[in-house]
Amino acid sequence: MAPWWLYALSMALVWGCVASSSYHATVAPPQDLRITDPGLLGSLDIEWKPPPNVQMFNECTVKYKFEYRNTGDRDWKVIFTRKLKCRVGFDLSKTAEVRVQTLLEGRCTDDVEVQSDWIYATFQVPLQGKLESEVQNFHCIYHDWEYLKCTWQPGLLAPHGVHYGLYYWYEGLGHAAQCDDYIQDHGINIGCMLQNLTQAEYKDLSICVNGSVAATLLRPLYVTLRLHNLAKPSPPKQLVVSMSASEELHVAWSPPGGETPPQCLEYEVQLAEDQGETKAAWASMSTQMETTLTISRANQSRISCVRVRGRTNIFCADRGFWSEWTQECFSVSRKEDKQLFILIPVILSLSSSLIIFMLIGQCKKRSPAGKPLHESVGC
Ligand SMILES: *[C@@H]1O[C@H](CO)[C@@H](O)[C@H](O)[C@H]1NC(C)=O
Ligand SMILES: *[C@@H]1O[C@H](CO)[C@@H](O)[C@H](O)[C@H]1NC(C)=O
Ligand SMILES: *[C@@H]1O[C@H](CO)[C@@H](O)[C@H](O)[C@H]1NC(C)=O
Repeated sequence: MAPWWLYALSMALVWGCVASSSYHATVAPPQDLRITDPGLLGSLDIEWKPPPNVQMFNECTVKYKFEYRNTGDRDWKVIFTRKLKCRVGFDLSKTAEVRVQTLLEGRCTDDVEVQSDWIYATFQVPLQGKLESEVQNFHCIYHDWEYLKCTWQPGLLAPHGVHYGLYYWYEGLGHAAQCDDYIQDHGINIGCMLQNLTQAEYKDLSICVNGSVAATLLRPLYVTLRLHNLAKPSPPKQLVVSMSASEELHVAWSPPGGETPPQCLEYEVQLAEDQGETKAAWASMSTQMETTLTISRANQSRISCVRVRGRTNIFCADRGFWSEWTQECFSVSRKEDKQLFILIPVILSLSSSLIIFMLIGQCKKRSPAGKPLHESVGC
């Protein structure tokens, strides 16, 4: 008798465990993952629907782990969300890859996080034209945090009469905008000036340079920029060099003009001391934000030059461009010259005391004998 009910009980337990663990431990992936291009030159909209059995988990929270990358990237970028859509940036010249899984956690899972399988999707904008028709040497510099200047060269397969256009978008602009200030060479657009980009600072700025010849489309170039990493300040202003009695050079300057935030600058100061025939190499020093520097002069040379330039510091950007130099040269009197300068006052004081003594001698002769010397000071 006993074995029968024991067997039944253990079967029930095993079945219950399997049933409950399979019930708690699985959740389906999201459905209908879709990627659409809103025409923002890099940002894509990704949407999905909840898993079919999601209503069963009313004691649990349902979240999604969303990952994305361009084909060829090593790592996925990760976003956790409760929403059913995301807008993220891609390099549109490559294939965009996304994947999403459901995450379930709460009382229904004994507070253990349960993950579903992944659901995948890819996207690629139709790339017209041959790869060699894409523009070359595309460069941009953000001058003084005031305007962005981008330049390029025509692609290798650029027939006569080619027309290039630059389009840009950043978060906050309703739609992609076209450049309205092109730089031209023989009637061909080879660059663009963009003003008023303050709203785009510290964001992704998506740029597309595309082109056409008659009815043929050329391969578009897609780039994502970050303005603060492309900043180039003007040269520092009002460089003043002075020398203290202890032979130290005191260098002071003002931050460059324009919209460059002064707290975003670091400086490099260089000193060259001319030693007769051979001009010595520049010796470098740097400062972080400070606009003064004291240098002890190693070589007692006659002519020295000091120059200073600025760049965005690591507190504001990962990288930037150096400004041009501001330079100041000056001559310092030689040691021998200085000895002469010390001699002159000595000679002067000696000769004046000599004159005074002679005058005293004259007074003594005229005054009656025996009078103390100091009373004759009046004459
Ligand atoms: C600069 O951009 C802002 C919006 O970002 C706009 O309101 C303003 O009119 C623009 N100014 C100029 C001079 O274009
Ligand atoms: C260039 O790209 C812009 C923005 O996507 C688009 O409106 C325009 O039609 C394209 N021009 C050519 C010649 O492909
Ligand atoms: C001083 O002179 C030496 C060689 O005589 C040179 O190596 C050094 O760079 C000079 N220092 C400066 C600050 O010019």
